[in-house]
Parts: sequence; C-alpha cells; structure tokens
Amino acid sequence: MNVVELEIFSLYKSALLDYLNGGGEHALRWAYEFGRRALAKEIRSIDLIASHQETLEELLANVSSKEESVRLTQSATYFLMESLSSFEMTFRGYREAIATLQQSEERYRRLIDTARDVIYTLTTEGIIKSLNPVFETITGWARTDWIGKPFMPLIHPDDLPLALGIHSFVLSGQTPPVFDLRICAFDGGYRVTEITTVPEIYQGKVIGTFGIARDITERKETQDQLKKLAKRVLDAQEEERRRLARELHDDLCQWLSGMKLTIGMVEESVSADKKSSAKLRKIKDQINDRIVEVRSLSTLLRPPALDDFGISVAMERYCDDYSKIYELQISFDKDGTDRVHYPTEIEIAFYRILQEALSNVVKHSHAHAVLVSLKEKGSSLGLEISDDGIGIPSEPVKQKPTNGHGFGLISMRERAELLGGTFHLVSTAGKGTMIHIDIPLPSNDI
Ligand SMILES: Nc1ncnc2c1ncn2[C@@H]1O[C@H](COP(=O)(O)OP(=O)(O)OP(=O)(O)O)[C@@H](O)[C@H]1O
Ligand SMILES: [Mg+2]
Repeated sequence: MNVVELEIFSLYKSALLDYLNGGGEHALRWAYEFGRRALAKEIRSIDLIASHQETLEELLANVSSKEESVRLTQSATYFLMESLSSFEMTFRGYREAIATLQQSEERYRRLIDTARDVIYTLTTEGIIKSLNPVFETITGWARTDWIGKPFMPLIHPDDLPLALGIHSFVLSGQTPPVFDLRICAFDGGYRVTEITTVPEIYQGKVIGTFGIARDITERKETQDQLKKLAKRVLDAQEEERRRLARELHDDLCQWLSGMKLTIGMVEESVSADKKSSAKLRKIKDQINDRIVEVRSLSTLLRPPALDDFGISVAMERYCDDYSKIYELQISFDKDGTDRVHYPTEIEIAFYRILQEALSNVVKHSHAHAVLVSLKEKGSSLGLEISDDGIGIPSEPVKQKPTNGHGFGLISMRERAELLGGTFHLVSTAGKGTMIHIDIPLPSNDI
C-alpha cells in the first residue's frame, strides 16, 4: 500500500467510525465525498472493500452480542454502499461512453467498408497499414497482397517522384491539393486515381498519412476521347479554312484579275467613246476593290505568311495590319524565337489565339496599347498578350456563353489545353488584361 492509499484508507476508517458512532447524515455525506476522492486518486473499488472489511472485522472483534454485530454490519454496509455510489456512477458513464464509441466505430467501419473510393493509411515509411475492400474491386489485387508492404511498387514509375514528394509533404503536417496518380492493377494495366491525402495525427504527432483514392480511369478516358474529337474538329476546320483561302485566292482572285485585263483591253478599243471609257474605268475600280477584299478575306482565313515565313512573321504582320486598321498601338516582341517554323498545330493555335485576343481588345477593353510577346523557353513556346484597358468585369471564363457569344476565352483555353499547354488570365479592373499561354514543344522538336 502506498502513502496515498494509506491516507485514504485511514480517512475511510475514521469516517466509518464516525458514522457508526451516530454521525448520521453528515457522516454519510462524507462517505459519498470520500468515494469521489478515492476515484480521483485512482483507488480501486476492490481495495476499498478490502479495507472496509478489515475495519469491520476489527470492530466486530470487540462486540459480544449477536444483535450488536448484526446492527454494526448493516450500518457499515450502508456506509460502504454510499461510498461506492460514485464508483457505480462513473462505471455507468464509462459503459455508456464505450457503447457510444462502439456505435461510432461501427458506423465508421461500415462507411469505410462500403465506400466506393479506396481509403488507405500509410506509415511514415510508406508502408500500407490499411486498405478498404473496394481496393480489390478497383485493382483486382487482394488487400492482403499489399497490407504491410511499401506502397511504392503500386505506383506508375513516372508518377513515383510526385507520390514520394507528396508523401514527405504530408508527413511535414501539410495538406496538398488533390492530385492524380496511376495505380498498377493486378492485370498489369493502370487505373488513374484522384488522391486526397492528409496527415494522420495521434497525440499531436504525425504518425502516417490517411488518403482517399477515387478511380477516375473512365472519366479520364472520356476526357481524352473528347479532346481527340475536339482536336479533329479543329483540324478539319483549319483544313477547310485553308481550302477556302486557296480557292478564294487562286480561283476567284485570278478570275477577277482576268476580268480586269479583259476590261482593260475593251477600254482601249473604246477609248474614243469617253462615256463608255468612264463606265469601264468605274467597273475596273470596283473589280480592284473586290480583289483587295477577297485577298484580305483569304489572308484572314489562312495567312500565307504562316505557311511561308512561320509564326513570328505571320503574327508580326497581323499585329501591324491590326494596329493600322484599329489605330491601336501594338508592340510585337519575339524574344528568342528565331526559328521559322514550329509544329503546325502549335503555330495555328497561337495565331488563332492572337486573333481572338486582339479582337477582344478592340471589342471590350478600351485599351490604347497592347503588348504581344512570343518567347521560346527551351521546352515550350509562350505567348503573352497584355492590354492597358479596363480589365474584365468578373471572371467571365467561368460564365456560360450566351447568344453565340462568350466563346472566345473558352476556345483560347481549349486550344492551349488540347496541345497539353496552359492558359492563364490575369485581369485587374481599370488596369488591363493579360493572357499567357504556354505550349510544350514535342521533345523531338526542341
Ligand atoms: N481584353 C479584354 N478587356 C476587357 N474585357 C474583356 C477582354 N477580353 C474579354 N473580355 C470580357 O470577357 C468576356 C468574354 O470574352 P469572350 O472572348 O469569351 O467572349 P466575347 O468576346 O464576348 O464573345 P465571342 O468572343 O464569343 O465573340 C467579354 O464579353 C468581355 O466582357
Ligand atoms: Mg471574344
């Protein structure tokens, strides 16, 4: 028995004696209070009963009559029950807490077991601690194949650096944004999963990671198919534009030029007739105007400079023409892009993006000056178009297009993303708008 126990039991003894000697209600209240103190000092109820028994035996040794023994035992038992009542209450509360805990544990287990996403935990060393049943449905592996083993071989080799980086990041107590990982399936294929992960914390310390992996393989496949489809549509549209441009230029323009020559010849033969000559000159002027119009339409559809001199010349010419027509100051900077040609699809994407961006500047921005810059940065080609206009009112990229309008920004983003690139838009009210597109160059093209 330690000092605390000795102290408590001697207190109990004197309180019991006090009660037996007629201490009444006051002594009983002590019994209850005493039980509370014993609990707080973590005294076990069994030790309390043993000490009670000892005290009672000592008392009974000095009692001769049977009646007195019975009276003493009954009173002492009553006192003991009062002392134990706080134990009983605590025990009841404890039982209820355990039941609630079991219920919530059961609910949590059911949730994990029926979840449609893989729910996993990893140790700090990356050993798989737990996996829920859907892991088997999604990957075809048995859970026992992987629990207790490192997670690394489950990851596509190209995604492993990302997975390891995120694991250490989470172990530092931080929560990363959602990211994609390809997980190796039993049949040798890969499932694309979208991972949400957080640190698993116990008593203030990170003891591993907790994560949810959502199978998005089908969604990714559909997205890829849609991308391919969109690319085919854009390619077909571009091809059609090229054909139309050629026909307008080679066919209609030639025909109009031929007409002009013929009229010129007729004009000579009727030179004496001033009235007819004037009429013919008027027709010739009109034909000339049409030729200029058809040529610029043809250039708009497919600028010959794009095929003949490459993207930077074509863009520079477009900026020059545009600044003259709309009296807008456009500076073109082609830093580091001395190459004449880049992959055609990238050139066309940039050219169309420039057309749409400049059209937006004229339609919406009230800008005075525009800066267009084309930059090759090793593995990618970047295009930035910034104006000093009024800026975009509120995020229109997320707004739905209406009345056939509002597709410009969306189509710029799509063109960039279809080629694996990025599209960023920064707009400050009253200060202007900046669009930045970066498209990776194919590795055999760098
Ligand atoms: N440079 C800019 N300066 C100010 N506002 C702009 C600029 N570019 C776009 N916007 C705003 O963003 C909106 C969406 O532009 P977007 O090009 O998608 O559509 P649109 O030009 O209205 O129509 P569409 O291009 O389909 O003919 C515009 O209506 C305009 O309010
Ligand atoms: Mg537009």
